[in-house]
Amino acid sequence: MPALVLLGAQWGDEGKGKATDLLGGSVDYVVRYQGGNNAGHTVVVGDQKYALHLLPSGILSPGCTPVIGNGVVVDPSVLLSELSGLNERGVDTSKLLISGNAHIITPYNVTVDKVTERFLGKRKIGTTGRGIGPTYADKINRVGIRVQDLYDESILTQKVEAALDVKNQMLTKLYNRRAIAVEQVVEELLGYADKLAPYVADTVLVLNEALEQDKVVLFEGGQGTLLDIDHGTYPFVTSSNPTAGGACTGAGVGPTKISRVIGILKAYTTRVGAGPFPTELFDEDGEALRRIGGERGVTTGRDRRCGWFDAVIARYATRVNGLTDFFLTKLDVLTGWEQIPVCVAYEIDGRRVEELPYSQTDFHHAKPVYEMLPGWNEDISKVKSFSDLPKNAQAYVKALEEMSGAPISAIGVGPGRTETIEINSFL
Ligand code: GDP
Ligand code: IMO
Ligand code: MG
Repeated sequence: MPALVLLGAQWGDEGKGKATDLLGGSVDYVVRYQGGNNAGHTVVVGDQKYALHLLPSGILSPGCTPVIGNGVVVDPSVLLSELSGLNERGVDTSKLLISGNAHIITPYNVTVDKVTERFLGKRKIGTTGRGIGPTYADKINRVGIRVQDLYDESILTQKVEAALDVKNQMLTKLYNRRAIAVEQVVEELLGYADKLAPYVADTVLVLNEALEQDKVVLFEGGQGTLLDIDHGTYPFVTSSNPTAGGACTGAGVGPTKISRVIGILKAYTTRVGAGPFPTELFDEDGEALRRIGGERGVTTGRDRRCGWFDAVIARYATRVNGLTDFFLTKLDVLTGWEQIPVCVAYEIDGRRVEELPYSQTDFHHAKPVYEMLPGWNEDISKVKSFSDLPKNAQAYVKALEEMSGAPISAIGVGPGRTETIEINSFL
C-alpha cells in the first residue's frame, strides 16, 4: 500500500504541514500536486518553526525526497528564496525534484491577479495575490510557460510574446496600467534557469518507478476540499483541485496506486478570504478561537474567519475524496468551553438539509443547526493516548467521527510533531 494522499477537508489551514511532517520520517517521497505559494504550511520541530509555501513539508525529513509535481504552479523567485532560507537554517534541500511540466507563475500573472481583484471591488475573491488564478488560467488557455521552457530561449520568447499579446491590451486599455515588456520578462525568467536546473526532472517517471519498487509516496495537498475549483464553494475557491483526484492528475500517478486518503480536519472551522461560511462566528467565541488557535494566515498575515465545527462539510469531504481516515487537529484549542456547539445540518428557507447543497444560492442561505456537546477544562496538550483524554473530549471526538463518516486515526493536541495522539497507524 505505497501511495497516500493527505489533504485539507475544510477551507485550508487545517494543519496539513504538521501532519505531513509527522509522516515524513516514514515515507520515501512527499509530493505537492497542486496550488503554489498561496499555501502556507507550518511545521514545528522542537523549538524551530518553519513556514513552507511551495516546498513539500517532507523537505524537513532528511530521508525523504521532496517533489513538486506537474500540477503545481511555481514562482521561481519564491522557490529560490524558500530554498536559501532553509539552507541558512541548515536544512539540506539538494534532493528536491521539480517537474519540467509544472507551470511558472510569471511576474505578469501576479500583476493580473492583483489588478483583477482590485477591479472586482466588493465582489473580490480575497485571493492571496500570488498570481495563482491567472497562471492556471494561462495553463488552461494554452498560453502558459512551463519550467522546461526556461531551457529554450527561442520557445520561451515566443510563448511570453503570445501570453502578453492579449494581457498588455487588457492592462493598458481596461486597467489603465503600463504594458509589460516581453524582453524584461524573458530576461528575468532566463535568470532562474541555471539555478533551477539541478532540480528539474521527469517526476512522473521517478514517482511511478518508486511505486513499482514499493517505495512509500505521500501526496501533500495545498488548500482544502471546499476551496477546490470543481467541488468547492465556487467562485470563492482557488484555481486548482486540492481534492484526492488532483493527486493523480497533478503528479501523473494512476488512481489504482492510491491506497489511503487522509483528510486533515480542524476541530472547529476557519476560512481566509471571501465566500460563504455557515458556522462563522462574529462574537467573542469567534474571537477566542482566533486568539487561542493563533488563527492568522501564514501567507498573507490576514486574520482567519473562525466558527464551530461543521459536520455537513466533513461528510462532504469524506464523499468527494473517498476519505479512509481523518486526522483531527487543534482539539486542544477547544479546552475551556462549557459546551461546544457542533453543526449537524443546515436550515435552508425553513427546510432541514443534511448534505451540502449543490446550489450556490442555497449554500449562501444555509443556517447552521447546532447540537451542544459538553466541554472539558483539563489541559490535554500532553496527552498521548485516546483513553487519557477527558471523557467529554473523547465523546467530542467520537461524535465528530460518527457525523463525519470516516475513522479519526490521529488527534492533534498541539503544534509540535510529538503533540499527537496516534490511534490507527497510517502506514
Ligand atoms: P496548513 O496550511 O494546513 O498546513 O495549516 P497552517 O500551518 O496554515 O495552520 C495550522 C496552524 O495550526 C499552524 O500554526 C500549526 O502550527 C498549528 N497546529 C497544527 N496542528 C495543531 C494542533 O493540533 N494544535 C494546535 N494548538 N496547533 C496546531
Ligand atoms: P493552505 O495550503 C487557506 C484562499 C484565499 C482565497 C482563495 C483564492 O495553507 O491551506 P488564491 O490565491 O488561491 O487564488 O485565493 O483561496 N486560499 C487559502 N486559504 N489556506 C490556503 O492554503 C489557501 N490558499 C488559498 O484566501 O480565499
Ligand atoms: Mg496554511
